[in-house]
Amino acid sequence: MRKKLIAGNWKMYKTTSEAVALVEEIKKGAAGAPSDILVAPPATSLVAAVAAAKGSPVAVASQNMHFEKEGAFTGEVSAAMLKDVGCRYVLVGHSERRQLYGESDALVARKFMAAQSQGLLPVLCVGETLEEREGNQTLDVVSRQLEAVLAVSGVASFGTAVIAYEPVWAIGTGRTASPEQAQEVHAMIRAKVAGLDATIGGLVRILYGGSVKASSAQELFAMPDIDGGLVGGASLKADEFARICAGAG
Ligand code: 13P
Repeated sequence: MRKKLIAGNWKMYKTTSEAVALVEEIKKGAAGAPSDILVAPPATSLVAAVAAAKGSPVAVASQNMHFEKEGAFTGEVSAAMLKDVGCRYVLVGHSERRQLYGESDALVARKFMAAQSQGLLPVLCVGETLEEREGNQTLDVVSRQLEAVLAVSGVASFGTAVIAYEPVWAIGTGRTASPEQAQEVHAMIRAKVAGLDATIGGLVRILYGGSVKASSAQELFAMPDIDGGLVGGASLKADEFARICAGAG
């Protein structure tokens, strides 16, 4: 049985003091939560968030990283640096990174491997745009994004990774994919991984992201291949996030 994982992607919100206050609130809700819990604050708050989460079930993720270990890459941070400050996870390939910063499938694959080489657990984000969905390309696009990583990293690497399906048209729009729409893609992702390694296919957690709210979470998480959520806006409010976590039984 896969334990659910509820992750909050805070994007470019929260100063350090706000981040610490939010972690403290989330910790209270996390005490009895049936799921694993992860928060991804902005880079400036990672150190403080790790300190605030210490000794609690709340793990901390970075929202991004560079694939090189160090070097002349102004403005970037490496997996080794994230590991050094106590991050356990890192998001790679979020659609905002792909769309706004031109991150390619190949770049995302390099980040995925670099994260694992430092002992970080990558959360590989995949998902189609509205145009792609309307053009019936959803499964092809998501397959391509997944295969780009599988091809270079190998299926075994998914034993220590998480996948997040986030349809771009559902992110920040209030328009959640229906449980059936999400399940269809999650099932395809799992089948693709299981086709290469049945054990890893059965174990890998596949999160849904895109306008998840407390009111929609339970229905989504009841689907057989949805193992939790990657939550944006609703993760910035401790009470709403706690209700999402509580619904992940
Ligand atoms: P929203 O929950 O705000 O739609 O954001 C989803 C997301 O991008 C999480 O990574």
